[in-house]
Amino acid sequence: MRPHPPLLAPSLLAGNHAHLAASAEAVARAGASWLHIDIMDGHFVPNLTFGPQTVAALRPGSPLFFDTHLMLAEPHRYLEPFAKAGSNLISIHIEPDYDHRAALARIRELGCQCGIVLNPGTPAAAIEPLLSAVDLVLVMTVQPGFGGQSFRSDVLPKLEQINAWRLTRGLTFRLEVDGGIDLETGERCHSAGADTFVAGTSFFRAADQAGFAARVSAWSRRE
Ligand code: DX5
Ligand code: ZN
Repeated sequence: MRPHPPLLAPSLLAGNHAHLAASAEAVARAGASWLHIDIMDGHFVPNLTFGPQTVAALRPGSPLFFDTHLMLAEPHRYLEPFAKAGSNLISIHIEPDYDHRAALARIRELGCQCGIVLNPGTPAAAIEPLLSAVDLVLVMTVQPGFGGQSFRSDVLPKLEQINAWRLTRGLTFRLEVDGGIDLETGERCHSAGADTFVAGTSFFRAADQAGFAARVSAWSRRE
């Protein structure tokens, strides 16, 4: 049994950066309930995006669940600003060296759900000890930093492994995928156990965004 039905989290990175609020509104209008917000620092990844001020500015006008993905070399230094800005979930990468367990606990203490993220080259074993301490595991299906990259199917066995641990241990964290996700690659990830689907380019370029969201929800009928 899967703990969660399929859920779409459109990524604001692929929205209109001069009209971010309008892009968030389009996500809500399409019937999605989550908004994936990518935060990049130019160190952990070679790109820059938004800061807490942007998240705070979007918060009052949006009913969406803010799924905040921190791609930062020192994420533990920015938990409070992003929680105060109105994030509902904050996910942090396993690769940089800091006290991951303490940072995850801090995110919950700040009133948010917490997630741990791993890059395509990072083995599942790296996050295995933290599985009981998170609300979400984000498996990157591209090397993070940029939207519009191609899905890496070599990540699928890792997804299956983490899903197997979830089932055998009776855990209920969400299993999210991010990078190159469209209706075809997303469905393959769904078959491998994923339930939460970040879609940037494919969602924002879709002619029928509501139809796109409805098709993700319909994957549950194949479970
Ligand atoms: C990439 C980001 C993704 C990005 C995905 O580093 O973490 O969330 O927005 O974009 P697409 O869906 O275009 O691959
Ligand atoms: Zn992301």
